[in-house]
Amino acid sequence: MEKISVFAPASVANVCAGYDVLGFSFAAVGDHMHFEKTPEKGVRISEITGAELPLTLEDNVAGVAVKALYNRFETQIDFGIDIRIEKKIKPGSGIGSSAASAAGAIFGADALLNSQLPSTELISLAMKGEAVASGCEHADNVAPSLLGGFSLISSYHPLTVSSIYCDLDLHAVVLHPKIEVKTKEARAVLPSKIPLTLATEQWGHLAGLILGLTRSDAELISRHLTDLVIEPHRKNLIPKFEQYKSAALDEKALGFGISGSGPSVFALCEGSQSAEQIKANMMQIASAQDYDFSLYSGEIDNKGTHEIR
Ligand code: HSE
Repeated sequence: MEKISVFAPASVANVCAGYDVLGFSFAAVGDHMHFEKTPEKGVRISEITGAELPLTLEDNVAGVAVKALYNRFETQIDFGIDIRIEKKIKPGSGIGSSAASAAGAIFGADALLNSQLPSTELISLAMKGEAVASGCEHADNVAPSLLGGFSLISSYHPLTVSSIYCDLDLHAVVLHPKIEVKTKEARAVLPSKIPLTLATEQWGHLAGLILGLTRSDAELISRHLTDLVIEPHRKNLIPKFEQYKSAALDEKALGFGISGSGPSVFALCEGSQSAEQIKANMMQIASAQDYDFSLYSGEIDNKGTHEIR
């Protein structure tokens, strides 16, 4: 293969119950990335459109991810890789912008290098790229963006990622208020320790949510789309959070929460009709605010990062 173009979807991390360990892929918005072999060795980013991001490899999420993979094979190959990025997911939106860059980068480079590495290894390399932007290596955006569907990271040491299949017609509505909430800052507001009783309650919710997804049980999913640990500390960073939440739950959303570290918020629901109604309600609230916003809806994407023609 001489060149490849890929689509890398957005993603919603945490999914209320699973801070840093659960996420789903959301293809209503995603980046386009183009990779081409070059006769001269090495990796370069020749163009980025749609966002002001560094072309310097070591400062760029995609650059770091591709380089990490490329370095493993450098002695066995005689070509380099040129990367062009069309950013469609706004950096700092909370819907996995950097993760999409990292997932797309690894997918594209893997195709050109024909690395044959297992997906856990590829996720681990993509996490190195993501860390450039978020300040820490977490996989709850990268894994679903790469694999599609819901991903559970049941262990980081060693990295253990499982895809979770749910037969329900799940849709998500995502509101991105265009205010700045940096992942590093949103992580800094969190307590480093929590009481055991709180941890116990949250473990129950995560287990219940996973069970609900695997059993395709909407009621169980809804009961456990609950975040007792993170949301209380982060919701104040998002204006009108409670109002959006009530608007979504009033329209029978299965649940509502902060997407990743925010400022985006998401509602999970069954069926496109429900999604459209929730979207309309959220639109009404957002339109009355003094910030710009983007609103997306779509089904949970099961494809993940893939080749486009
Ligand atoms: N799990 C991460 C966090 C996701 O909540 O900080 C960042 O998008």
